[in-house]
Amino acid sequence: MSPASTLRLAFVLCTGAAVLAASPPSNLPEPMNGTFSVLATSIIDTDVETAWNSILNFSGYPDWNPFVRSQEVLNEWSAPADDQTPVVGSVIRITSQIPPLPFPVNASTPPNILNIRITTENVSHILPETHQVRWYLLSIDEIIAAERWSTVSEFVDDDNKTKVFYESRGVYSGALGSTVQALLEKDITSSFQAQADAMKLTLEA
Ligand SMILES: *[C@@H]1O[C@H](CO)[C@@H](O)[C@H](O)[C@H]1NC(C)=O
Ligand SMILES: *[C@@H]1O[C@H](CO)[C@@H](O)[C@H](O)[C@H]1NC(C)=O
Ligand SMILES: *[C@@H]1O[C@H](CO)[C@@H](O)[C@H](O)[C@H]1NC(C)=O
Ligand SMILES: *[C@@H]1O[C@H](CO)[C@@H](O)[C@H](O)[C@H]1NC(C)=O
Ligand SMILES: *[C@@H]1O[C@H](CO)[C@@H](O)[C@H](O)[C@H]1NC(C)=O
Repeated sequence: MSPASTLRLAFVLCTGAAVLAASPPSNLPEPMNGTFSVLATSIIDTDVETAWNSILNFSGYPDWNPFVRSQEVLNEWSAPADDQTPVVGSVIRITSQIPPLPFPVNASTPPNILNIRITTENVSHILPETHQVRWYLLSIDEIIAAERWSTVSEFVDDDNKTKVFYESRGVYSGALGSTVQALLEKDITSSFQAQADAMKLTLEA
């Protein structure tokens, strides 16, 4: 069973079938095989293109994102590129907070220096039609690998209102996968969810 369906099953077992009916269909692609995965979702009262733009507008992350404090497209000299529009093949530098900062945050919110993580990752997929984007990390020795898919999709809620379902899932694998899981799974999960919640707050403000 996929982590997403396991999670949904857990919800149903805990709170009854009404939650299942309210849970929109997932728009996440198949995960890579991994040691563990984390999933965050939110339901946002906005339109799908606005939400999609918010995911891809990395320059805006410092203004609202309590998890990823900056995500920069790099040029061939590993410096921030003049054009920050990500494309397939972009190399990006991600500076994040695990666990997340309390929110709301803005561009001048100071980091918690103990919890800063910096990774260099590659954008492998940007699918505008289905609003799915993936970036991934592969250490040179393949000791740790990670992928993150993010997607938004429209659905009609119980009140017949069109809303946006945001989903983001990280999968971790490699020789260090279980170490990362033991040390950080809980904090990574709260970071992913903080981004989902902050995106909702920001887009609904
Ligand atoms: C995951 O592993 C299973 C069994 O090892 C394999 O059949 C499947 O193709 C793998 N999936 C991916 C996406 O690599
Ligand atoms: C991206 O975010 C920045 C900073 O919040 C904002 O100035 C800019 O207009 C946004 N770009 C797009 C395409 O929405
Ligand atoms: C930015 O966030 C900090 C807390 O991190 C807060 O003290 C400050 O007032 C905020 N600034 C603006 C302009 O909202
Ligand atoms: C990431 O992209 C860079 C530049 O395109 C490439 O040199 C590198 O091999 C890619 N890394 C992986 C792990 O595919
Ligand atoms: C839901 O909305 C659609 C179009 O906005 C309308 O045609 C339909 O009758 C509505 N259904 C209900 C149950 O309100």
